Amino acid sequence: MRATDSFVEVSERAIPRVPALRGKTVVSLFYEESTRTRLSFEMAAKRLSADTMNFAVSSSAVKKGESLRDTCQTIEAMGIDALVVRHASAGVPWQVASWVGCSVINGGDGWHEHPTQALLDCYTIRGRRGSLEGLRIAVVGDVKHSRVARSGVLAFTMLGAEVTVVAPPTLLPPSLDGWPVEVSHDLDTVLPKADVVYLLRMQAERQQEALLPSLREYTARYGLTRDRVRLLPDDALVMHPGPINRGVEIAADVADLERSLITRQVANGVAVRMAVLFLLLGQGPSGPLSGRQGPSGPPSGRQGPSGPPSGNVTARG
Ligand code: CP
Repeated sequence: MRATDSFVEVSERAIPRVPALRGKTVVSLFYEESTRTRLSFEMAAKRLSADTMNFAVSSSAVKKGESLRDTCQTIEAMGIDALVVRHASAGVPWQVASWVGCSVINGGDGWHEHPTQALLDCYTIRGRRGSLEGLRIAVVGDVKHSRVARSGVLAFTMLGAEVTVVAPPTLLPPSLDGWPVEVSHDLDTVLPKADVVYLLRMQAERQQEALLPSLREYTARYGLTRDRVRLLPDDALVMHPGPINRGVEIAADVADLERSLITRQVANGVAVRMAVLFLLLGQGPSGPLSGRQGPSGPPSGRQGPSGPPSGNVTARG
């Protein structure tokens, strides 16, 4: 978080750029759609003076049948320093890291994890509440298909928050063994005690069967409507990773309330990703930012393609 504080300060300068990663090259390898993650990693790399390349699957040799492994090794052969990988299958960033020697950053893998989203969410909550210690966070909606929920639960609880997941049974994983959470199917009883209500997108593209009678019924029971906002404590915060489905999991005007941090989350995402890139590729305490921050070694952790949250952010091949 200290590194991110430094990069928030950089982002607020008239010329928001530092030479920390001059000479480094960061490649976005996104096999799945993205607006926030792809653009914020690109902006983060540019603000650190790294060169950037964007890999567009639709106009690449993938369309001629080139495999993921050959694609990654081809790009690496051009002399790059980091790959930011998003893929619809769980575990792909971990697999890619076993094939290449450069750094690999998970930009979201299937239903598994979205580590930098969790980092920016924790940073955003800390910015408003000082700490996550003792906060009650309600994570509401399509938990079953949500990599954001898996990484968020892990990060929030690690920092001392109490998490309740709120969803209809069909939108919860088959087992919550290993998840350090309470479970509720009744949003109206959870909201009055919540410090943060974190809404998840209804992920229709990942649902292979009919899990709900209708979206209208889902909104009636689990949507954050204007009426439900009145159940929240005055200082409770509303968050959503985006993209939002206005009128489904969140009412159109609720997304724009002062207590809603949705655009703040996006803004913080750039500084958080600058910190991740710098800690992985930068020169550490003696590097270009020395005197303004004291970054430690790169974040590390294991990952697995399924099961409860596992806590990986990055991997080095
Ligand atoms: N929150 C998030 O991952 O958004 P994108 O899919 O737009 O990157």
